[in-house]
This record gives sequence, structure tokens and C-alpha cells, in this order.
Amino acid sequence: MKKTLFFLLFIILVVSCGHRPHKYIIGVSQCSEDIWRDKLNRELKTSEYFNDSIEVHLVSADDDSKKQIAQINKFVEDGVDLLIVAPNQVNSITSAVSQAFDKGIPVILYDRKVNSDKYTAFIGGDNYNIGKAMGHFIARQLKELGNVVEIRGLEGSSPAEERHRGFMDGIKDYPNIRLVASEAGNWKEESGIQVMDKILRKTTDFDYVFGQNDRMAHGAHLSLKRHGLGDKVRFTGIDGLATQGGGLELVRDGIFEASYIYPTKGDEVIALAMRILKHQPFNRDNRLSTTIVTKDNAELLLMQAKDLERQNSNLDIMHKKVDSYFNQYTMQRWFIVMLVAALGLIAIAILVTYRAYLSKAKLSTQLADSNHELQRLNDEVKDMTQAQLTFFTNVSHELRTPLTLIADPVDRLLESGEVKDSGRQMLRMVQRNVHVLMQLVNEILDFRKVQNSKMKLRLTRFSLGKALGEWCAPFGSAAEIKHISLKMDSDVTGDDTIVADEEKLNHLYLNLMSNALKYTPAGGTIATRLSSDADSYTLRVEDNGVGIDKKDLPNVFERFYQAQGSSGGTGIGLALVKAFADLHHGEVSVESEKGRGTSFIVRLPKSQEGVIEEQSALTQPAEIPVDQYAGTAVNVEQYLDDVVSAEENDKPEILIIDDNDDVRTYLRSILKDQYHVSEAVDGKSGLSLARKTVPDMVVCDVMMPVMDGLELTREMKGDTATSHIPVILLTARSLDDQMAEGYETGADSYITKPFSAKVLLARIDNLLKSREQLRQLFASGETSATPSGSDQGVQPSASGASIGDRDMAFIARLRDIIQRNLQDSDLNVERIGEEIGLSRVQLYRKVKALTGQSPVELVRTARLQRGKKLLETSDMTISEVAYAVGFTSPSYFTKCFRDEFNISPSDINT
Ligand code: FRU
Repeated sequence: MKKTLFFLLFIILVVSCGHRPHKYIIGVSQCSEDIWRDKLNRELKTSEYFNDSIEVHLVSADDDSKKQIAQINKFVEDGVDLLIVAPNQVNSITSAVSQAFDKGIPVILYDRKVNSDKYTAFIGGDNYNIGKAMGHFIARQLKELGNVVEIRGLEGSSPAEERHRGFMDGIKDYPNIRLVASEAGNWKEESGIQVMDKILRKTTDFDYVFGQNDRMAHGAHLSLKRHGLGDKVRFTGIDGLATQGGGLELVRDGIFEASYIYPTKGDEVIALAMRILKHQPFNRDNRLSTTIVTKDNAELLLMQAKDLERQNSNLDIMHKKVDSYFNQYTMQRWFIVMLVAALGLIAIAILVTYRAYLSKAKLSTQLADSNHELQRLNDEVKDMTQAQLTFFTNVSHELRTPLTLIADPVDRLLESGEVKDSGRQMLRMVQRNVHVLMQLVNEILDFRKVQNSKMKLRLTRFSLGKALGEWCAPFGSAAEIKHISLKMDSDVTGDDTIVADEEKLNHLYLNLMSNALKYTPAGGTIATRLSSDADSYTLRVEDNGVGIDKKDLPNVFERFYQAQGSSGGTGIGLALVKAFADLHHGEVSVESEKGRGTSFIVRLPKSQEGVIEEQSALTQPAEIPVDQYAGTAVNVEQYLDDVVSAEENDKPEILIIDDNDDVRTYLRSILKDQYHVSEAVDGKSGLSLARKTVPDMVVCDVMMPVMDGLELTREMKGDTATSHIPVILLTARSLDDQMAEGYETGADSYITKPFSAKVLLARIDNLLKSREQLRQLFASGETSATPSGSDQGVQPSASGASIGDRDMAFIARLRDIIQRNLQDSDLNVERIGEEIGLSRVQLYRKVKALTGQSPVELVRTARLQRGKKLLETSDMTISEVAYAVGFTSPSYFTKCFRDEFNISPSDINT
């Protein structure tokens, strides 16, 4: 774009710079406007034709000296290169001319003069000699005897004065020629009339009238004619113009005896100007030669003048033609330039387009290359995925045999009744989990079948409403255990038969229900709704559970997709739901809102094409691993009772949080001998239980519905009531960054599944021991240092035990409250709890966990310590000290003092 603009500018410059010579501006200041000056002005303008290098600017002052001064000044201001001035009057114009001259502008005085030397050159007729010649001529005409009247030009103008002087000198030689009157006019015809009228009022005794120009002489003639004296008097004038009514015609027609050609000679004026401008030699005083016109030569001069006039007018016409040709030429030149510019632009456009085409072609090649590469990578990924899927399929197949070999003996052992009590319980756990594994394996295999298009529909005709009722029923007990209510609605009145693969629809429904149960917390509702239109049924499974994140919604039906916060699983269940719906030419969709619930919607055609079998493929409904969803309801009151008894037993409290019942049962079986165990089924209920009961340790799964283990840990570590409780995260997420994420939340330990019971027990033991060490350090005062202020806020002590910022702050605050209120005998656990923002149980458990002492013991120890100090350092009596440290009875103070320090207060206070 820039290039194009430069190109255009260049062209314009080239054209406009063409031949444009520097032009001199010549300002011409004329004193008057009349036919003589018209002729002169025409000649000046015509000179422009011959001089390409000048531009003539003409102005006229209309016989007004003031106006002329202003016009001269304006020329000076505009910076003309040269001034030609015909001064109206000698004196008044002198200073304007001098100023222009002083400013370095060459000034040519023309025809008339000023009274200063400050001008460059003069050019004009020789007015003195013209006047003198006219004096001689008149004298000769009058045969040297007669009276003459003179009509002078404008008073103060140099020609008027010079012509008068010349005239007087001319008639001086003829003593009988008398000048009877001499009056000034103003060069105009009207003034000739007026002056003559005036003279006639004085005298009529004259024979000749000398008018200093033709116009005034003609005016005088008109005046005399009006007075009837026209024939008696003869006339002469000056100027001798060839125009109509001009001097030449007046002489030819016998009205004037003579006139004197007062030359205009515009060409010579310009020639002089050019010499000055070009710094060539020139004459300062240039007199224009001329001649007298009488009847003898008037005709001839008139003819010559008219010839000249014609030639001039031809020249003018020619010049105008040349001008128009030149304009045409200029136009054409512009046109050609524009054409060249347009062609240039087109060339540039072609070039740019070509270059764009080239780079596009290059890009296309690069794109094609990268497409090939992408395609190759895609194929590679596909092959790899295929290989992995085949591997999973093979493994799944291989798993079936050992699973059957586990399941069958376990079933038989259970049936035989040989194994009893806890052994039987464990076997049941094995049986359940083998079943879960079998189901998983079957799902993977089913999915592969769908993928390989090997899955076929076995169509039967059955009542969909009835089938849904039957399929839903087995979820009843799982829902009951989780305190979830199940609902079943149908808008379909009358016939609700469907032609479909009953087994697959059963499976589809089972997956949707399993999913809903997994993500609906206690107290929730799961509703199955059936509706229909002319061709299809719509099945909705709606829950008011945790909901799915908006960003996960488009992917929930993708195989292996797991939404953030999902509680594990293979990611196959919903993919199978879609696959089975697709097989039936149906559609699945999902609507969900985080925190409000989820609805899965399956639209199924009422019928399918194909052979309809009599007997359903579904011999019995798919089994539901009921225990998988069974949450254990925790009775807090009961638990708190247990806490007390546990304390009596002195067993530490461990809270297990896991959504898998079997895992919880297994953990309980491992831990129950050494610890008091409580359970929760998800992070949310686990957190509220931890807040209520403040256990000594939490062992928690990471992937759980409602609230996961990471969130739970974060919440616990951010809450004063629970921040001190060690958390062990127990999870199948074994990758390094997953573990790092776990530790970042503040977890104290991370154990990956599958785990060994020994390792877990050892880890729990270690953590509890380090807490014990911490308590001892506290007792010895080592942890009373101020918090470290680090992010994690742990401050390792010499023994390796550590305490977080929050807990350091808690202890500092606790100490402060106790110290501030020592003298207050009403200070009790409730009050401290209120001030610190913890319940009685929370305060008791936390203080005990951190310090090994109950809050009451802490207060008492502090009172006694202060008491001891007071006894040692003051003159107070034992009673005064007892009251001062919050004891209501001095004797009880003495008893406690003795218990604490093994000496009596009186041993100090002697
Ligand atoms: C024209 C004119 C002439 C005269 C001359 C004197 O303006 O009046 O008629 O001869 O000026 O300057």
C-alpha cells in the first residue's frame, strides 16, 4: 500500500515538475483607466506571450493617488519581482515608489515621473519636446500671429508640467503668438469641456486650442461647438490613438489640425523590465521616439495602426489557440500520466496477487504436509488405542477364568456353611467384590462388542413400564440404606409395549440408576419417569444430587471420560448407555446443574426392525451390587458415648472415610483391635463427623462422591476444630503429581492402594507417636515458640514432631485467654470454648490432642504456676494468692498445690 502511494506521488511530481520555468511577477500600477492605457495594458499582456518567464499583474488607481499608494504597497507586500508604475501625481506617489525601491524591488517609472531618484529606470515619451513641437506647429499654422489657449493635464502630474514647459518654450520664438488662457483639466474629455466653458466665460478671442491630450482637446471642441464657435478655432491634441474617435481619426476628419503620437510601446517597457530582471545592462532613462500627425500622414498612420491592430488581434487569436492547445496538451499529458499510474497500479496489483498466490501455494503445501503428518499421527494413535483396547479385551477375557475360579469356590464355601463368623464375613466381602470385578469385565467386553459392531439386538416385545418397575425394585434396599427415596412415574396410559432388547435396556437402566445412586447424597430423591409420543418412549432418570459441571456435560457419554470430582469408576457405564440407545436407534441426552441434580434422558423408538423372538433374552434382571451403595449411617450421640468409653479404654479415635463399604469394613477389621473406629461414606459427611467428634486421626479415600478427599483435607486443615488432626489419604491415585496434590492440601501421609495392612498400621502408629512427642514437648514448653509463619506452617521440633501455624496460633490464643482470666474463678471450659469459637467437645478433644491435658487441667496448672510465682515473689498470704489465681477456697488451693509441686504453699510463704 505504502509502495503504491509513493509511486503515485512520484508520478504526480514528475508531471507537475515538467516544464515549469520560474515566472517573474511584474506588478503594473496604472494611474488611470482610459483608451490610451487600455492600449498599453493590452501591449503589456501581449508581451507575456513572448516571455514565458513573466506574469504581468495589472491594477489601476482610477486617477486616485491614495488608491495608487495602497496598490503599490500591496504589490510590495506580495513580493513582486518588479514594479512598473505610472505615478498619478509626482509628489504624492514619490514615497510609495521610494519605499518599494528601498525594499530591493526594481521600479520602472513609466510615462510619468516622481520627484525622487529612488527608482530603477524611466521609460516614456519626451513630453517636453512634444510640447515644444506642438508650440512650433501651432505658431507655423497661425503664420506666427494669433491667440492660443492651452488646456493642461492633471495638476501635479509630470507630463502636464513638462508639456506646458515645452509648449511655452516652443511659442517663445514667435512673439506674435499669444497664450491668452491656460487652464488645467484632468486628462479626461469631460474636463476639456469644463475648462473650455470656463475660458469662454473670460474670452472668445483666440484662434487655436492646444489640448495636452486628444481627449481634452476634443472636449474643448465640443464646448466651442455648443457655443457656435466650433469653426472659428483650430485644435491640436496629443496621443494620436488609432481607435475610433481617437486622435488619428480626428486629424483625418479635419476636426484637429494635428496630434502627436504619444507612444505606449508596452513591448519596449517589458523588454526593459526583462533586462533589469535578468541583470543585463540597461539605460536608466529611456525616451520613446514618436512623431507628429497631420492631415498629410494621418490616413497612412491610421492604416498602419489598424494593420498593426489586426496583426495584434491575429496574434491574440493565435495565442488563445495555442493556449487552448496547450491546455489540451496538458490535459492529455495528465491523462497519459494517470494512465501510466493506473497501469503501474495494475502492475503492482498483479505482482501483489501473484506473490499472495505464491505464498498461498506454499502455505497449502505446508498445510498438506502437516495434514499428512496429522493423519499419520492420528493413524498411529488409532492403532495404539486399538492395540490397547485389544489388550484390555484380552486381559478382560483372561480375567474371567480366574474370577470364576475365585467366585465359584467362594460361593460353595458360603453355601456349605463350613466357614463361620468373621471368616464368613470376609468371604462375603470376597464374593461381593468378585462380583463387582465380573461386572466390570463384562462391561468392557460389551463395550468392545459395540465398538466392533458385533453386538446384535435380540428383540422381544415387552411392557416397558412393567420392566422398569422390576428393574428399579432391587435398588430399593441400597436406596434405603443411603436414605434416598426412589420414585417411579409413568405418563403412558394403556399400552406401553416396546420392541427392544430387554437385556440391554435393563443394563442401560441399571447403569443410569447406579450412577444416580452414586452421586445423590443422603436425603435425596431419584425418580424414573416414562412418557411417550406416537413413535417413541422417553425415559428420564432424575436425581437431585451433586450435578455435573457444565464443561463436563458434552463429554459424559464419551468412553473412559471421567468428570472432575467423579468418584472413580471406569467411565464405561454411560458410554454403554449411549451405545445401547444407539443400537436401538434412540438418543440419549443429559441435563444437569451443579448442586441441583442431573437428569439423563433416553428416547427409544417404540419398535425396531428385525426378527422378534418369543422368549426374552433376559432370564433374570441384572444383579445390583447392593452393598456398593450402602452408606453407614453414623449416630453421633452413640459415637460420643463411644468416645467416652474409648477414652476410658484409652484407645485413639480413627475416622475412616470411604464410599466403598467393603473398604471401610476391611479397614475397620484391621484397626478395630487397637483403635476406636468410626466411619463416613463421603467427604461431606466425613467432615461434619470430624468436626463433631474431633477424632485423633482420619484415614480417607480421595475419589468420593459429593466431596472428595482432597477437599475434605483442605477443609479440615483450615478449620481450628480439626486442623490438628492427622489425615492419611488412602487412594488408588499413585502418580507423583497426584500425591503432590494430596500433600499440598495439608495431608500428613499418602498411602496408595493396594496397600498393606502392616504399612497402614505402622503409618498410623508413627503419626500418633509423633503427636505424643509433640504433647510431651508442649508439656516441657518447647513448642511455645511463636508460629513459623511458613505456608504449611509446620515447625519441626528436635524430635521430628511438628505443629501447624493454625495450631500454634490456637495454643498461643488459648494460653493468652487462660493467663488473662486466671484470677477469675468462673473461668471454665465453656467460656474458653466460646471465646475461641469451639464447642466443649471440640475444645476438649483438641486441647487434649495437642497438649495431653484437658482444658480444665490446663487452667488449673496455670493457676498453680502463677500462685507459686506470687508466693515466691510477693508478700501476699496463701489465701490472697489462692483468690488471686481464681481458687474459691484456700484449702483446695493448698491441696492442689501439694499435688502439683509436692510441696505445700506454706513451704514457700514462710
Ligand atoms: C492617458 C493620458 C494620455 C496622456 C498621458 C499623460 O492616461 O492621459 O492621454 O497623454 O496620460 O500621462
